Amino acid sequence: MTNEQRTQVAIIGAGPAGLILARLLACAGIDSIVIERRDRAYVEHRLRAGVLEQTTVDLLRSAGVGERMDREGLVHEGLYLQFDGARHRIPLRELTGGRAITVYGQHEVVKDLIAARLAGGDEIVFEADDVRVIDIDRDHPTIRFNIDGYPFAWLGILAQTPPSLDELIYAHHERGFALHSMRSPELTRLYVQCSPDDTLDAWPDERVWEELHLRLSTRDGWTLHEGPVVEKSITQMRSYVVEPMQYGRLFLAGDAAHVVPPTGAKGLNLAAADVKVLAEALVERYRTGRTDLLESYSATCLRRVWRVEHFSWWMTTMLHRAPGDDAFDHRLQLAQLRYVCGSRAAATSLAENYVGLEHV
Ligand code: DHB
Repeated sequence: MTNEQRTQVAIIGAGPAGLILARLLACAGIDSIVIERRDRAYVEHRLRAGVLEQTTVDLLRSAGVGERMDREGLVHEGLYLQFDGARHRIPLRELTGGRAITVYGQHEVVKDLIAARLAGGDEIVFEADDVRVIDIDRDHPTIRFNIDGYPFAWLGILAQTPPSLDELIYAHHERGFALHSMRSPELTRLYVQCSPDDTLDAWPDERVWEELHLRLSTRDGWTLHEGPVVEKSITQMRSYVVEPMQYGRLFLAGDAAHVVPPTGAKGLNLAAADVKVLAEALVERYRTGRTDLLESYSATCLRRVWRVEHFSWWMTTMLHRAPGDDAFDHRLQLAQLRYVCGSRAAATSLAENYVGLEHV
């Protein structure tokens, strides 16, 4: 069926970028339609990371969709870096003048945004086929594409057991990276570095727990709680950026424009930062006719995009073991980790990136 509908802004994709943009525009009285290829259940249950920067929390609150996040989200004032069998806390709040992160699943943010949109009487077209953009004109478009795959992936599980520690643990280990995270006081989210060619068959629950115990244990005897595994999946890693992030009247935001490796949980946060810039530019265009903010959309966003690409790459390379790595590479990583944990300046650099640099 072909459907013709007039609107001010057409948004393709009901992920965090599309839904936050629609919400910010609705708050400013600007009409939009949201078109999504998948069905509602799929987007509401797509398990992704669960760490919201302070900047993202502030944005969702100001858009009137922070109520459940404030009630159910877990505010973390620090995180742990683990290496050499010992754990070191980075006090995020203390190092960033009172900022923190909130652990709240991406799919929960998506559910809240969908509910808010539908409650406001606005539609989302789910299961839309063959979506095309027609008549986007400009004389000399350039689209540059950078892609960088990684020689490892993450095997993630959701386990029905209380978190084994109150904050996240990013662990460096000679067998490869491991991460302890959570979704609620009853649900633990855990990841182990695996090979990008692995399938789930290679990772029965017993093997996952064995690796997690090995990589997350500390010399002081701390142990990880086990529980029934309720979800298991493999996350591939890559980095890419599309430059510029606009073409005529088509604006790219979130994963359509860039992907970061998962270490640091920046995907949703970067999507939110893009659409904050885009919403402000669209509001200006509709209120005053001014187009300069829209014209500079890509340049404005790309400054943050490259910063976050670098941070995610830096966290990834500091914590993972690549197939060809030797003792020299391993020592370099440990030297960097010791520096981050031992120097207030270095810890502050990690902390301010982790809680989110201020939006422009
Ligand atoms: C989670 C994912 C991440 O990529 C990360 O850096 C921290 C936490 C998570 O799924 O909880």
